[in-house]
Amino acid sequence: MTQPSGSTELAIGQVGLGGITVVHRDGYRIYDQPVVAGFDPSAEARDRFLADTPGASFYESLDDLIVDPLVGVIDLATPHHRSTRLPLIEQIAAAGKPILVQKPLAYSYAEAVEIVEVFEKYGTVGMVNQNMAFTPGSLRLLDAIMTDRAIGEPAFAQVTVQYVFDTDYHPWFGKDDRWWTGALTVHHFGLLQLLFGPPETVYAVTGHDPGQPGVTSDGFGHLLMRYPSGMTVAVTSTGTYYGTDPVPHGNEKIWIQGADGIADWRPEGGLDLSHRGEAGEFSRERITWNPKEKWFPHAFGLTMAHFRAALADGAPPLCSVSDNLYVMAVIEAAYQSSENNRVVPLAEIMGERYDPDYGTGWSHGYSDWVSATLSGVGRG
Ligand SMILES: NC(=O)c1ccc[n+]([C@@H]2O[C@H](COP(=O)([O-])OP(=O)(O)OC[C@H]3O[C@@H](n4cnc5c(N)ncnc54)[C@H](O)[C@@H]3O)[C@@H](O)[C@H]2O)c1
Repeated sequence: MTQPSGSTELAIGQVGLGGITVVHRDGYRIYDQPVVAGFDPSAEARDRFLADTPGASFYESLDDLIVDPLVGVIDLATPHHRSTRLPLIEQIAAAGKPILVQKPLAYSYAEAVEIVEVFEKYGTVGMVNQNMAFTPGSLRLLDAIMTDRAIGEPAFAQVTVQYVFDTDYHPWFGKDDRWWTGALTVHHFGLLQLLFGPPETVYAVTGHDPGQPGVTSDGFGHLLMRYPSGMTVAVTSTGTYYGTDPVPHGNEKIWIQGADGIADWRPEGGLDLSHRGEAGEFSRERITWNPKEKWFPHAFGLTMAHFRAALADGAPPLCSVSDNLYVMAVIEAAYQSSENNRVVPLAEIMGERYDPDYGTGWSHGYSDWVSATLSGVGRG
């Protein structure tokens, strides 16, 4: 098993050096993920990159970065507009360099399929940077639910996210046709896909706080999802909430009801496992982790560490681009459901790509990496 490593084999070339890539690099430094090159047309982005990554090469064109023999993996973090994603992916995939693509993969399901078809055409490996799934706390949750089966077969889960996220400071965040469900709740869909796989149907309401500065499209999106197993999931997710009981990004609240117990989890707040005994009594076990291990920037380092380890070991990564079509289908179904006020089957969005027997995202990637990574720091 290949562990996260500072080896320059499969070293990283960053394409798009915008705001979020500062966090990428902070996380990469923590987990020894070597950045050797970068490309961005913006002079400001270039200067920031060269200041925080001395020794890396900056290139004036993607062509030059791709042919750098040191670059083995591309970290693509341009905006998820089709115009800044599809041509770059085509060019990089044609050169055969594996790509970690920032979430969300695309704006719409149709655009996501276009991207996946490019990966398929060239046989290039791609993973979506669903970094919430790689927070240190998420790895503990996955280990407990998927490896240890600590609550048995999941039957219901509830996700609550409510805080205020105004984007008046940002040139394009919140200003496109789709925002909250596609760009923010996608984090939670990525984790749900690993845990439970794709739902069969989605019912959603998306909406907008007319007084919110900066967000001109959807500022919230609430979903009810039914799964082939009979499981159900309720997601309440909003960036419009400035009341007295915030549940912020980074510490959202998720609980999962299983046949044998309940898991209460927050990415930065610990995991509680509750069980009902034969006499009806309840017992609890608390799993904690280093409170300094946060989503930002730790999850970014661990996501890249996972991708590079999967590549080195020839295993498909978790959150691969093809697996992520299910996540994109949930987003598409949510917007269509809300617009038309009806339940939307995923099969209607995905056609022949929908597999009712797909199972969990966990079963389609390098899940052994999680327990191997956690074993280095203990499980409790
Ligand atoms: N938690 C997270 O994972 C997280 C957080 C924020 C943003 N994001 C995602 O990351 C992506 C980028 O967000 P951001 O906040 O860095 O945006 P940004 O606007 O700050 O930066 C985008 C960068 O891409 C560059 N760029 C544009 N076209 C390019 C091209 N053709 N080739 C190379 N570079 C190009 C721009 O010059 C800019 O520097 C978005 O898709 C966003 O949804 C993810």
